[in-house]
Amino acid sequence: MRKHVKGNVSWVGYIDWELETFHGDDYSIMNGSSQNAYLIEEEKTVLIDTVWTPHRFDFVENLKKEIDLNKIDYIIANHGECDHSGALTALMDEIPGKPIYCTANAVKSIEGQYGKRGWNFNVVKTGDSLDIGNGKKLVFVEMRMLHWPDSMAAYMTGDNILFANDAFGQHFAVEELFNDKANQCLLYKEALKYFVNILNPFAPILKKKLAEIAALNLQFDIIAPSHGAIWRENPLQIVEKYAQWSDAYQENQVTVAYDTMWEGTTKLAHAIAAEISRQSPETVVKVFNVAKADKNEIMTEVFKSKAIAVGSPTVGNSILSSVAGWLEFLKQLKFKNKKAAAFGCYGWSGESVKILKELLAGAGFAVVDEEIRSLWNPEESDFAAVPALVSSLLAPSPKE
Ligand code: FEO
Repeated sequence: MRKHVKGNVSWVGYIDWELETFHGDDYSIMNGSSQNAYLIEEEKTVLIDTVWTPHRFDFVENLKKEIDLNKIDYIIANHGECDHSGALTALMDEIPGKPIYCTANAVKSIEGQYGKRGWNFNVVKTGDSLDIGNGKKLVFVEMRMLHWPDSMAAYMTGDNILFANDAFGQHFAVEELFNDKANQCLLYKEALKYFVNILNPFAPILKKKLAEIAALNLQFDIIAPSHGAIWRENPLQIVEKYAQWSDAYQENQVTVAYDTMWEGTTKLAHAIAAEISRQSPETVVKVFNVAKADKNEIMTEVFKSKAIAVGSPTVGNSILSSVAGWLEFLKQLKFKNKKAAAFGCYGWSGESVKILKELLAGAGFAVVDEEIRSLWNPEESDFAAVPALVSSLLAPSPKE
């Protein structure tokens, strides 16, 4: 069923209340999600994006109830990832030959996934536009690497709507569609989690792109992403947040992340957390066992932190596999401007802290010299080393 967005623009996507994970199991979904597609009915009829592959037949059947598919003049594929292009196969079976407007890289990704089917691709680049009648046009802006090489946004003049695709989205199901109708706390929680876990690796590119878009002096009445709530009330609020988040963001927060075998490393983690609060009562402290807590939620807290402490006992001359996997994800997210410390228990060889420090440095963190290596279980001498480690973590870094 269509939902009215503005003027002659409707939402025709899919609200995914049951989705539990995204990108395979790499991204946890806590509050549903949506794949937003849009229908523009000016003198020309335009479909912007589709939905994820499993919903392709429902999508096409629902669209048929709204319009005669043959009336579609143009299809815009802002991004080739299958959560937006997945219904193209079913749609194009109905209306073969209709022109699809997308970037050159989107042709590669769409044909790469679905094969060469002879679709009528029309390649566009930044600044190209498409007349849709009634004095309005769609202006295309390439969003390369935000977050795929093929990503693009489309700006609709007249109604001043930015169809931003993944940028400014959230994995968040909002039946009422708009940001002003959504639970504000959840909206921002999900917008930040999405930014951290999907877009942060490309933050330097995003920072430049935001400046480029600002220089165009466009008016934005609505920012319509491809996931979650549509930004209708003060749409620039999310642009301003993105500008902050893409600039080595941090709050007065420290996160302690660890796993443990026999609770010795847990005791160190808790002692570090308590000492942070003692030395700096205004600092927010978050503590997570990485084997038990959701990794995307932890990363969102790491993103907000100015420093982290990471712990693992030594096992097999290395670290626990839970911590190793977590650190690999940490590296992928390319956080900037953060300090780190390492700690852990051991029984004999004791390599874990050295390995943790190397991996944290490799993930781009400024690793402090202070460390805690505790033989068997933490003793008084180990706890006595906690204040110096915390003091070093809390000391201002050069940028502060
Ligand atoms: Fe929502 Fe990159 O797909």
